[in-house]
Amino acid sequence: MTEAIPQAHIYAARRAYLASQLGNGGVAIIPTAPEHARNRDSDFAYRHDSYFYYLTGFTEPNAWLVLDATGRSTVFCQPKDLEREIWDGFRLGPDAAVSALGVTSALSVSELDKHLPKLLENQHTVWYPFATHKGLETRVADWLNAVRARVRLGAQCPSQQRDACGPLDEMRLIKDAHEQDVMRRAAQISAQAHIRAMQTSARMLRAGQDVREYHLEAELLHEFRRHGSQFPAYTSIVAAGANACVLHYRADAAPVRDGQLVLIDAGCELDGYASDITRTFPANGKFTGPQRDLYNLVLASQDAAVAATKPGARFVDPHDASVKVLAQGLLDLGLLSKAKHGSAQDVIEKRAYFPFYMHRTSHWIGMDVHDCGSYVEPAELGQTSERKDPLSGETIVTRPSRILREGMALTIEPGLYVRPADDVPEAFWNIGIRIEDDAIVAAEGCELISRGVPVSVDEIEALMRL
Ligand code: GLY
Ligand code: MN
Ligand code: MN
Repeated sequence: MTEAIPQAHIYAARRAYLASQLGNGGVAIIPTAPEHARNRDSDFAYRHDSYFYYLTGFTEPNAWLVLDATGRSTVFCQPKDLEREIWDGFRLGPDAAVSALGVTSALSVSELDKHLPKLLENQHTVWYPFATHKGLETRVADWLNAVRARVRLGAQCPSQQRDACGPLDEMRLIKDAHEQDVMRRAAQISAQAHIRAMQTSARMLRAGQDVREYHLEAELLHEFRRHGSQFPAYTSIVAAGANACVLHYRADAAPVRDGQLVLIDAGCELDGYASDITRTFPANGKFTGPQRDLYNLVLASQDAAVAATKPGARFVDPHDASVKVLAQGLLDLGLLSKAKHGSAQDVIEKRAYFPFYMHRTSHWIGMDVHDCGSYVEPAELGQTSERKDPLSGETIVTRPSRILREGMALTIEPGLYVRPADDVPEAFWNIGIRIEDDAIVAAEGCELISRGVPVSVDEIEALMRL
């Protein structure tokens, strides 16, 4: 008997809960992710599908889970094959999969087309993730057709198709203790990586070396990997100087110069869970006056957003709290003229802050860096309100924002990005600042799991002197 995978009971409990959501005669089909060729004999690094992993803990490619409402689970996986295993590595194989994964039965994936019609026969509803796996809809249709071919023999064909993302997204939105633990560890590794990159920047500049963005990226990747992270959770941003004002900039080869700020947005993935941290720091370890002023404004807005992140609050509350602080600060620092724009309230109503702050403050985080889960409160789905966008004039229909509950995880990441403009003081031109932390909603307030790397000016300057 093969040893069970770590935490097998957690995946079994999730399958049991999902089964209870399928309704009588429901069958869920969940494939893992496909492999992607890079070129010729090279593939991109393989990453499992998050839904599949959430229900199985299984990371091999070419695998499927079929689960029915009675809790019966079947895994289809790669068969044992000595030659393929010599080239590509170990395969669990169907015989061992039953005890290792704790499923009811396991078959070779080559049997999928033969068995799926049998598993769907005389069932009522087929559930699968809609619009996530290319070609899945067609395969489901083929299996349903195979069932339909047998109706003259008395077989019943499922008459309904439903999106499995619905119940799974709701499940994934609340992180259990095991998930929170992995997320804390991922965030801790990423925090160490940020510290390492900051210190490298200052040390190399002190030594008179030519520092490039990729030097700092290399430090991040080294720290991620040496702590066992499998991949970065997303493409790292290491942006020196004006590059920080490009929201989706990537780490490139630009020089990192004395006197510039560097924005690093980078986080590792550990055991299937993402972290997502941004820090902005002076390349040489010492903020200039204008850099410090703008930085402290973004930090104050993040503090306000953190204070607004608690059970019972709405998902939009942290965003609204940070915008309020930013709007006032932009007026106080002269980036927006009080004569032209009026009060902070006016700035918010007219969205005059938008040229400096054009993204939202939060997104869910979990297995995926922008994790699944509805941003609308399900119980209030039907309640709509309309408003006119002051910038575009378009009518925007909104629904009540999600109510935060213990165990939800979200980022808190306000920023300011100042492009050169005649009506903006030159001292702030080309400064881009974002401060991003990962929060888990707690019984009261929230736990910031990424503060292993500090955010205050004094602490950043202190660690960069080392
Ligand atoms: N790093 C992606 C994001 O902050 O949303
Ligand atoms: Mn983020
Ligand atoms: Mn980020």
